[in-house]
Amino acid sequence: MDFFNYRQTKLFAEECAVEDIAAQFGTPCYVYSRATLERHWRAFDDAFKGYPHLICYAVKANSNLAVLNVLARLGSGFDIVSVGEMRRVLAAGGAPEKIVFSGVGKREDEIRAALQVGIRCFNVEVSGELDRINRLAGELGVIAPVSFRVNPDVDAKTHPYISTGLKENKFGIDIQSAIHEYRRAAQMPNIKIVGIDCHIGSQLTETAPFLDAMDRVLALVDQLQGEGISLRHLDLGGGLGICYRDEQPPLPADYVSALLDKLGDRGFEIMLEPGRAIVGNAGVLLTKVEYLKLTAGKNFAIVDAAMNDLVRPSLYGAWQAIIPADTNSNAEPLTWDIVGPVCETGDFLGKNRELKITPGDLLAVRSAGAYGFTMSSNYNSRPRPAEVMVDGAQVHLIRERESIEQLWAGEKLLPV
Ligand code: LLP
Repeated sequence: MDFFNYRQTKLFAEECAVEDIAAQFGTPCYVYSRATLERHWRAFDDAFKGYPHLICYAVKANSNLAVLNVLARLGSGFDIVSVGEMRRVLAAGGAPEKIVFSGVGKREDEIRAALQVGIRCFNVEVSGELDRINRLAGELGVIAPVSFRVNPDVDAKTHPYISTGLKENKFGIDIQSAIHEYRRAAQMPNIKIVGIDCHIGSQLTETAPFLDAMDRVLALVDQLQGEGISLRHLDLGGGLGICYRDEQPPLPADYVSALLDKLGDRGFEIMLEPGRAIVGNAGVLLTKVEYLKLTAGKNFAIVDAAMNDLVRPSLYGAWQAIIPADTNSNAEPLTWDIVGPVCETGDFLGKNRELKITPGDLLAVRSAGAYGFTMSSNYNSRPRPAEVMVDGAQVHLIRERESIEQLWAGEKLLPV
């Protein structure tokens, strides 16, 4: 459930009409709802009902400092994949001891920085990374907390670009070799083994693949236990899907209770790394209709947002609802492709949408809170949109619209 609803004909974000937000901040503009964000985070947190756990929000889904800060105030942990994400979390008031560091290609400077601030653990994804962490920890005179991200080889049954837990994917250490890595780690002077983790993909709409992965991970955990290698936590990654159209993913409470049932009495702390399920439906992208182009084969509504602002439709063929800011319209209902100004045929936000549209209308692309702004670019030299967060009746600007000058700040001419 989210807090983007119609009141009579007008779309509201919590207590604010999105039309007023667009009038004040311009378009395109990302609008987030604090109440939705908090509700979704709490849905995960409450699901554990006192069982030891830590929700580590996946920063890549939406890394705006205000979003991170709202979650940090709730006590959230964070899953990061770069030193940039780490610095964002710290700048937003996140606790270093609640940060887990995932990612297949951690550089030396990134590992060093994470060791210096004292993060919760590294999710090691490749054999050489373990040696690197051990060496760098030794140089800094610290002990590095380590978990292995294992690749359990299960089919997440999601889009191939966002499936990560199959053996042909680049992620994690294949589950057969993992025992060997744990044995190596147990012998290393500057490594402390703290956990195990897996992340099998994103936008999963069934519980079964998570449970299959967990079976395989638990078999390994029991084997490790038998060798005297004990773990403190089990991190099951992110990946719980959301409803974009008619998907019916399990509720966090049902998902978590299925995981806890399977865990039995093993007594680990459970960690999760949800991104999309927390922030996806907590955001919309507002865009204004610039022109209508009616051709023999297609009707195009050309809007001021484009694939550089929201790439999911172009990149994954993702379907996101597009709804009017005001349903009161005298226009004829027609079938439209909603397209941006970027010079690519793949630049669309939605295809074949039945809508009543007049130039100047304001539209909202729903479910844009996750992997929206964070995947935006400056392609076609388009400044990135503003981001605002609604909190009840208040609207806060949380990222200024990029200026034209910012587009080339940092670029240099050759000497004359
Ligand atoms: N943990 C790890 C290690 C991950 O790689 C990811 C996402 C997550 C957690 C969070 O997954 P979530 O709960 O958000 O599903 N850009 C794509 C999604 C890519 C997901 C990458 N990894 C999209 O827009 O659909």
